[in-house]
Amino acid sequence: MTTITRDTATGSADIVVLGIFAADLVFQADRLPTIGETLFGRAFSIGSGGKGSNQAIAAARAGGRVGLITRIGADTFGDLARSVWQAEGIIADAISIDPAQATGAAFIFVSAATGDNAILVTPGAAGRISTADVAAAGSMIADAKVFVTQLEQPVDAALAGLEAARQAGVVTIFNPAPAVAVPDMIWRYCDWTTPNETEAAALSGVAVDSVDGAFHAADALGRRGVRNVLITLGEKGALLCGEAGTALFPPLAGATVVDTTGAGDAFNAGLAVALAEGRSAEDAIRFATAVAGLSVGRPGASASMPARTEIEAALERVPSPIWMTRPEEDLIFSTG
Ligand code: RIB
Repeated sequence: MTTITRDTATGSADIVVLGIFAADLVFQADRLPTIGETLFGRAFSIGSGGKGSNQAIAAARAGGRVGLITRIGADTFGDLARSVWQAEGIIADAISIDPAQATGAAFIFVSAATGDNAILVTPGAAGRISTADVAAAGSMIADAKVFVTQLEQPVDAALAGLEAARQAGVVTIFNPAPAVAVPDMIWRYCDWTTPNETEAAALSGVAVDSVDGAFHAADALGRRGVRNVLITLGEKGALLCGEAGTALFPPLAGATVVDTTGAGDAFNAGLAVALAEGRSAEDAIRFATAVAGLSVGRPGASASMPARTEIEAALERVPSPIWMTRPEEDLIFSTG
């Protein structure tokens, strides 16, 4: 195993992301084929993806100084990852190359009609990210302002990262995507968790088919020890149940939807950058809403992430949240 510090940025990071890289093999078509059927697609492209890498790249474009903890293989897709990270200035001290494993890859179907997607991902080398990798990046995590992780790499690595960050007083964001079984203790290390509707339902055991359902799912996750539950609801926006109170954050006004791949990653990256800059919960979620709303207007995952200047310009199109309770009325999430 070797690291790739020679050809990318090094140094301290304000935002540290633990997660995977995947080469996204994107097929746009009218619908998915059924088993045994061959269909013509409308378009094909290869791009850089993987939730962790997407979040790192989006955060860097949004103005963050970002370090990534991951593993790739010594192959063509690994070369793609390295060239993208180099171009985006990602700090690579904690990125390892495992010559015995392939780099991650994902099959992505994008509906030509709606821009919605279906994804099949194989993490490859990143599927072997270990608690030892996290421990080796301990000082990078402790020196950061915000730590972010998801669930495409092993759960025990996510748990170790969240615990290390929390113990160092670093703000933690846990994006539980895709939803897999997690130990109950993981929630107590979460300053923020950011599931989408499907993930919130799977992890809370509460159906999320409305804003009311999302509120009950958030309540269930809050009772496990999360300080701020922020459920993304697609075109309905995002529901916050947290220390600032309970509020619905509407989506970016006037956003056009071309491809939703990576929208959740954009949202998490925006949240991370804004929290690292010391913004309030309300301002951080509005910033995240702008990043996500811009990303869906362009094709691809990391390729669709907006630059800081675009985000600043879009902020005036982010509606104000609709508050339902304020902290003093909220028994589970209040700071008192
Ligand atoms: O969140 C989108 C990402 O999920 C894609 O880039 C794909 O690689 C999968 O990891």
